[in-house]
Amino acid sequence: MPRLPAALATTAALLASLAAAQPPAGEPAELKLASPAESKAEFDRAVSPFLARHCAACHNPKKAEGDLDLTTLDPDMKGSTSGARWAMVVEKLAGGEMPPKGRPEPPAADAAAVARWAHAEAKRAGRPFTRRAAYSNGNAVPHAALFDPKNVPPFDGGPRVRRLSPEIYAAFTGELAKGKSGIGQPFSPEGKSTFKDMGAPKVDEPVTVQLLQNALAIVEAQTNHKVEGDTVKGVGQIPKEFLALFDPKAPPTDAQIEAAVAHQFHTILKRPPTAEEKARFVAFAEKNIADAGQVVGARYALAAVLMLPEAVFRMEVGGGKQDAKGRVRLAPREIAFALSYGLTDKRPDAELLKAAATGELDTDAGVARQARRLLDDPKADKPRVLRFFREYFGYDAATEVFKDNKDFPEHDARVLVEDTDRLVLWVLEKDKDVLRELLTTNTSFVAYKTAADTKKKRAEALAKFEREKAANPEKFKDKKPPQVGRSVYEAYGLKDFPDAQPVELPADQRAGILTQPSWLVANSTSFDNHAIHRGKWVRERLLGNVVPDLPITVDAQLPDAPDKTLRERMNVTKEKFCWQCHQLMNDVGYPFEQYDHLGRFRTAEKVLDPEATAKNKDPKGKPLGPVLRGAPLDSSGLIAHVGDPALEGPVAGAVEFVKKLAASERVEQVFVRHAFRYWLGRNESPGDAASLQAARKAYRDGGGSMKALIAALVSSESFLYRVPTAK
Ligand code: HEC
Ligand code: HEC
Repeated sequence: MPRLPAALATTAALLASLAAAQPPAGEPAELKLASPAESKAEFDRAVSPFLARHCAACHNPKKAEGDLDLTTLDPDMKGSTSGARWAMVVEKLAGGEMPPKGRPEPPAADAAAVARWAHAEAKRAGRPFTRRAAYSNGNAVPHAALFDPKNVPPFDGGPRVRRLSPEIYAAFTGELAKGKSGIGQPFSPEGKSTFKDMGAPKVDEPVTVQLLQNALAIVEAQTNHKVEGDTVKGVGQIPKEFLALFDPKAPPTDAQIEAAVAHQFHTILKRPPTAEEKARFVAFAEKNIADAGQVVGARYALAAVLMLPEAVFRMEVGGGKQDAKGRVRLAPREIAFALSYGLTDKRPDAELLKAAATGELDTDAGVARQARRLLDDPKADKPRVLRFFREYFGYDAATEVFKDNKDFPEHDARVLVEDTDRLVLWVLEKDKDVLRELLTTNTSFVAYKTAADTKKKRAEALAKFEREKAANPEKFKDKKPPQVGRSVYEAYGLKDFPDAQPVELPADQRAGILTQPSWLVANSTSFDNHAIHRGKWVRERLLGNVVPDLPITVDAQLPDAPDKTLRERMNVTKEKFCWQCHQLMNDVGYPFEQYDHLGRFRTAEKVLDPEATAKNKDPKGKPLGPVLRGAPLDSSGLIAHVGDPALEGPVAGAVEFVKKLAASERVEQVFVRHAFRYWLGRNESPGDAASLQAARKAYRDGGGSMKALIAALVSSESFLYRVPTAK
């Protein structure tokens, strides 16, 4: 890479400083390693007095609640167990769990200083706290604060800058670079949020370097040319405004640079440069050309347009005047981009830009109309809607669960995921009672993409088998015919691939996505069900409660007892300390014990039979291996601790369970909360109550229409307005 011209370094620094000025909410700012002396000083200044004031009354040598003495806890986290205890302190502070309710709450800034010191000290000691996925935190806002029509607090969402999602960035740069390779994703995915795309921009040096490399690669493709004699020729479709910069006979004039810059602005930002920008970029290009030569200098000038924050981020700051409620509406261009990024992976199309220019986006109705246009257009690419359901239900994680090839040779998680994708699209096509359908339908696709092909392969394999058997009957005497594709249709409880898609599965066995093999596999381990994960999903995504994070001090393992059922082995979590959390997960996970870890419906659980195994020997006394028995299945569950008496009570089995959930108003509201997070790219707060209630109403009034819900979200107050004074 050529050396950075000085002025471009300034642009890069500007970009970095912009992001630095907007640290993502909740993330500790980048930690500088303190020296031991600095760390000690900070401990004495901020930490020790904080603990003495807010904690020591209950955590001292005499009265050590939770077996924790905070007056003598070693601030040095090397070697000792003190690191784990400090991690616990940080966790309790972050969750607002300590000091306990009823005690005066410590100032947030002081608690943050303690957390900052502890993070830095742990890092310095070489044992940084592992950060677990705190993805359920969106649920921390009490449900009642959001859906009470009689108590709607004023909107208070502040200005925002977001990074482009990986999909948007790839589409944007791919189109510009014309398939040229070497474009890397600058932003790492956000692992902390419910949805991947909720990330705030985090710009550090590696990000800036990658952005710059990408910008230069793109500009190289945009300006690909060759010089023949003393004329310059474009290689491929190169705009004349760009070619003029590379004329070997003379450096470009101001007017030529201006034209090229204007063209680049139009290409990248879909707007003309302002007079100020024109002047700045012309001066910048001239300086670069003087410093680095005509070709490199001109390219850096064009690359700088790609480095503008507006090109790299989603700017949702608010460009209008403040209204009587203290809100500022996003500028029409901001709305056009936000809408387009919300509904597609692309930048706004011509019609949307026109709507921005002609005032259509100045009204909420106009925004809703444009949203509907995009949602209704069969040609418009709307991968984001399917992606929402994938992320919300999480069934696509089935491909990440390893199943041993030897034991399950036909298992193919990708096929299961494709089937559920197809089911989601099938429900979306009708766009009626979408959530309820997704939770209760017994319609299913079964290897809908591959069934025909697999059947053909199976016929071939069978024919080959029969041929070989006929030729050598003795050798094939005990061999079974090949079972190509078997585990896929068996996962759905079928005896073969269906002739037509979709199929109706037995209504007493299957109801919706939570009974689809993909979801069940995604929430299983390699060998067993994961009732805790299944329950956690229901608790967070449907019931909308907060499940506290698994403390790092807990060795989260079930006893290794192959003769016991999973439910029996999970009895270890009934201990009081464990149960405070596990009561939230276990009882809403058990109903799915009706399926095994491959998603097959079952009526008994296979466990080891030790006596039969002991007797399972050949005549010479050689053990012949484990013998399993079918233990009776208990798939009863309990809905409790929700805060909704209408919903609470015992349930018997998965179908009854999901039907009860699907009929619940609260569950529908929690679903709307998740849709809000996805389309707004952030967690909801009480100030979003009006937007959430309007979105829920639109969903209802539209007969459970996803399109109505999305259109309402992207034309809501929360989407379109910013309060400049908000944090
Ligand atoms: C009014 C008494 C009281 C005060 C004040 C108090 N705690 Fe606690 N703390 C408890 C009790 C009781 C427990 C044990 C039960 C529990 O975990 O809720 C506990 C448990 C803990 C635990 C978990 C220990 C474990 O092994 O699980 C941590 C960490 C903790 N407290 C940190 C703090 C911090 C930090 C403060 C000050 C900001 C604080 N506590 C203030 C009463 C208190
Ligand atoms: C503060 C809440 C909390 C407490 C207390 C707690 N757990 Fe958990 N536990 C969780 C959460 C949350 C998960 C799910 C973690 C995840 O998402 O992978 C979990 C998961 C587990 C798992 C499954 C681990 C895996 O991913 O395979 C086991 C086993 C477990 N806990 C056992 C225990 C036992 C035993 C205790 C008591 C000694 C206990 N837990 C105490 C919250 C808790």
